Amino acid sequence: MISGKAKIAGVIGWPVAHSLSPKMHQFWLNYYGVDGAYIPLPVKPEDLAHVIKALPMMGFRGANVTVPHKETVVPLLDIVDAEATKVGAVNTIIVTPDGKLKGTNTDTYGFTKNVRPHLKAKNKAVILGAGGAARAVCQALLKEGFARIVIVNRTPERAAALLKQFGEKVSAEPWETRARALEATDLLVNATSIGLVGNQAFDLDLSALPTQAVVNDIVYAASFTSLLEKARARGNTIVSGMGMLQHQAVPGFEAWYGIKPQVTDELTRHMLSD
Ligand code: ATR
Repeated sequence: MISGKAKIAGVIGWPVAHSLSPKMHQFWLNYYGVDGAYIPLPVKPEDLAHVIKALPMMGFRGANVTVPHKETVVPLLDIVDAEATKVGAVNTIIVTPDGKLKGTNTDTYGFTKNVRPHLKAKNKAVILGAGGAARAVCQALLKEGFARIVIVNRTPERAAALLKQFGEKVSAEPWETRARALEATDLLVNATSIGLVGNQAFDLDLSALPTQAVVNDIVYAASFTSLLEKARARGNTIVSGMGMLQHQAVPGFEAWYGIKPQVTDELTRHMLSD
């Protein structure tokens, strides 16, 4: 039940129908008995500027921003914090009490919260991919104190751009020799979009990866991705992307609705249910 005073937020994407965020936030709104709503907002790229400007005018507390708007939304905001500036993308907007639009990036926080409890060593991490998601993971791992981060990406120019941005702890290995890049690795992260659609198989030979390594896929498929299945079968600790999605949502929910929500097994079961 919502009243005329309901606190309103939502998720802006195009398309947005696949997003699990409304289901997740609605679970928390019900669980904590909040007078509020969180709605999907399908917004075409050419309409983004109008919609962002209208958020405070319509009384929104804020919004999440997802594909393909995370980067293009940045110049449309009044304030962009240091984390979002470093990642070059905003996934959470908060409308301040005086009606300003403040952008932050909670993907790095969500990634770290999800993976940290499983880490045994922080010497070498390998990130597959060099897009927006890989940038957030790279920033999170540098903050987490990894000594060395190796980027492996199909298009070398995109990997080179990450190296330039993040400095000497970050290096690159060619996509063609990706299997060899896994030697002496403590953490392997898939930040490519492989596996996003229909759990597409991942062509990666894991034989050089130490069995103590942790393997994380930021894709939050309903079941484990083929990469995670393959890693689990050989004894690696695996961490699915579902926890990142859940944890990245916490700061936004707290800012908009005034309660810090908990990430629980009950939430996960709800999100995986039909
Ligand atoms: P996101 O913002 O989710 O990171 P993106 O910027 O489109 O999305 O990046 C997608 C990443 O997945 C890229 O690293 C891309 O590699 P390229 O830079 O070579 O395009 C990677 N990717 C997607 N499909 C791939 C495939 N079939 N094989 C290898 N890499 C793939």
